[in-house]
Amino acid sequence: MPYLETAVEIAREAGGLLANYFERRVGFELKGEFDLVTEADRASEKLVVERLRSHYPSHGVVAEEGGGHDAGAEYCWYVDPLDGTTNFAHGFPAFNVTLGLARGGEMVAGVIFDPVHQELFTAERGGGAYLNSRRIHVSQCKHLADSLSSTGFPSRKRHHNVNIHFYYQIAMASHGVRRTGSAALDLAYVACGRLDFFWEYGLKPWDMAAGTLLVAEAGGRVSDMRGGPHSLTQSEHLLADNGALHGEVLEAFGEIFQGRLRVPLPPVP
Ligand code: IPD
Ligand code: CA
Ligand code: CA
Repeated sequence: MPYLETAVEIAREAGGLLANYFERRVGFELKGEFDLVTEADRASEKLVVERLRSHYPSHGVVAEEGGGHDAGAEYCWYVDPLDGTTNFAHGFPAFNVTLGLARGGEMVAGVIFDPVHQELFTAERGGGAYLNSRRIHVSQCKHLADSLSSTGFPSRKRHHNVNIHFYYQIAMASHGVRRTGSAALDLAYVACGRLDFFWEYGLKPWDMAAGTLLVAEAGGRVSDMRGGPHSLTQSEHLLADNGALHGEVLEAFGEIFQGRLRVPLPPVP
């Protein structure tokens, strides 16, 4: 069976499992001070890793909850068994399961499945991006002032994160900045034009593997926040946009990196 077809089958099965747990409202544990994990994360990961292992015993698997194996293989799957755990644990319906396949370090296929809205995002290198089998494209928004974007804040070491400066400046300069709580959905939404761009610091490869391929295949651009090439495993931050906004967003980010803030934060009264 072709890789994408297998990945879709596995994502649908894991998504069904997540939806089941979601209806039952399972409890959570803490991995770090504010870093949640649930029984659903672990059960979904076990299912995905077992299925991948039986279909492709020679492939590597890198999965968030540690269930993977042999990352040195030519083919490597990046798996986030539940992206949006904090949303999930609070009953907020924005989460997904996502699988991305890299060959020799290059993304070749990706799936993001949102079981609540029954939305399946898929992409294969050179084959375009799709939502429920219909071709999708990035938005045509040309100006930052007319844009809607999204970002996220890490749960680990969050007090070291400087993203609030980017959040505030971009929010003041545009239609708004959303914080969906799911990086994979943020990327899928850039790919289908619901968002014009997305950025975040400190994401892990499994958060971005499928989504960055989707954005590229939907006609968008993926780089780091300074405009350099983006690496799933090495980059400190990510910018994914519709291409038309790339220059203007990088210019705004460049000013923030240099400490030049267009709109200073108002003092607390
Ligand atoms: C998190 C989500 C969130 C992002 C965090 C991620 P998780 O993934 O994608 O939107 O802001 O950086 O860690 O922990 O729910 O799989
Ligand atoms: Ca994640
Ligand atoms: Ca996760």
